[in-house]
Amino acid sequence: TPVRRETFSSRRLFILSAIGSAVGLGNIWRFPYVAYENGGGAFLIPYLAALLTAGIPLLFFDYAVGHKFRGSAPLAFRRLARPAEALGWWQVLVCFVIAVYYAVIIAWSSMYTIFSVTKAWGEDPEAFFMGDFLQRAGAATEASVSLDFVPGILIPLIIVWIVTIGIMIAGVSKGIARANAIFLPLLVVMFVILVVQSLFLPGAVDGLNAFFTPSWEALGDPSVWAAAYGHIFFSLSVGFGIMVTYSSYLKRKTDLTGSGLVVGFANSAFEILAGIGVFAAIGFMAQAAGTTVADQATGGIGLAFIAFPAIVSEAPAGQLIGVLFFGSLVFAGVTSLISILEVIVAAVQDKLGAGRTFSTLIVSIPMAIISIVLFPTTTGLYVLDTVDGFVNQFGIVAGALVAVIVVVWIYRKLPSLREHVNRYSSFKLGGVWFILAGVIAPVVLAYMLVTEIIAKSTESYSGYPLWFNAIFGWGMSVALIVFAILMSFVPWSAKSKLNFDP
Ligand code: PHE
Ligand code: NA
Repeated sequence: TPVRRETFSSRRLFILSAIGSAVGLGNIWRFPYVAYENGGGAFLIPYLAALLTAGIPLLFFDYAVGHKFRGSAPLAFRRLARPAEALGWWQVLVCFVIAVYYAVIIAWSSMYTIFSVTKAWGEDPEAFFMGDFLQRAGAATEASVSLDFVPGILIPLIIVWIVTIGIMIAGVSKGIARANAIFLPLLVVMFVILVVQSLFLPGAVDGLNAFFTPSWEALGDPSVWAAAYGHIFFSLSVGFGIMVTYSSYLKRKTDLTGSGLVVGFANSAFEILAGIGVFAAIGFMAQAAGTTVADQATGGIGLAFIAFPAIVSEAPAGQLIGVLFFGSLVFAGVTSLISILEVIVAAVQDKLGAGRTFSTLIVSIPMAIISIVLFPTTTGLYVLDTVDGFVNQFGIVAGALVAVIVVVWIYRKLPSLREHVNRYSSFKLGGVWFILAGVIAPVVLAYMLVTEIIAKSTESYSGYPLWFNAIFGWGMSVALIVFAILMSFVPWSAKSKLNFDP
């Protein structure tokens, strides 16, 4: 007998969980810098265009596939069309890679939450991060192969895995929904306090000016538009199988588009809030260091583990800033990590017809081992960066593009998906959705994919040696494609009815 599919017990909990997935490291450390670099205040225009013309339409697309076909990504796509199953596995594999990376960043952030109290980095946060923390001082540009351990990172990494495995085993409503219902409000409260505190720092206004001042000429630059679209896909977690998986747990009669609009706008609101908070803090740092905002502006690992510790050291009540900032990274990260893991766990559950605990363990333990063995090493850091660059910019774009082409153009499922969505939704999808999800989105994605392939094959990523790219970038991408196709030929458990069509 088929096992009953788990459900979110209410739409509110689904929305909370979907926001929890969307609001992640991307909002806090990626958006502010991307916006600043790509026209400042003027970036709002391509950003909103990307949100409305591609982000939200594809969010509806993911919801429609997951909710109509009620399965993990591989099962939902398999039910949609036999050959599309491989696409689902590609998304599963991309999630596998991202999860390993996410877990490491969460572990670092939890260490830095504690470090903030004592300002453990001393006088030189950069030397501390590169040296004491990562033990790779002097190796900043040259990739080297070694497996020297950094024990300080080991313990938090193990804790992160134990906590997330616990949440995953507890299941969709007792684990995922509950964790989001606790962590997301906590995140919002902490982050709002952080932003307010940052706004009162001397120099904050300079940061805000730098962030919001529009450079209108950026609007004529295609790379600015590509940055906006690229960011939106990542930020809304579309094209990863995440929203497919989460919406498969929704009850039949659910307002899908209404939920999607709430999720989309909540994510953007959080991003803009983060832009304000981060640039207020950077403005303060520029003043304290007697430099310009442009000198201090940065994103990603550099912002979190080098720039912010300096701010914590200099600012009045800096310890509080540090605890709030790194604590926010931890909570935002955990709620995203569990959504990524759910894609993989659900796929294994469906494929094998296995129980929740077994599926969680068989997925998480190898992942935990990879992140524990590989990433706290000097080589691991380079692998992490290279793989992240590839998977984020290439894996998602390629996956989303193929999904749209297969579903819209080869199998022509858009009309039936629309009908499904409109049955219970408040915001009805019309012909505009066909144009946005079926034409605009794939054109933009194809453009991004081609530019990305050209960029990746002509220049090494972040200045690492080209052979490094070859192995961890292209080699990994090809291996994942092959593996995804192979997985689509592994037989399904009899419990997963493949010819289910509502
Ligand atoms: N949407 C998340 C963010 O903005 C990132 C993410 C990507 C989360 C993929 C889960 C899966 O940070
Ligand atoms: Na986001």
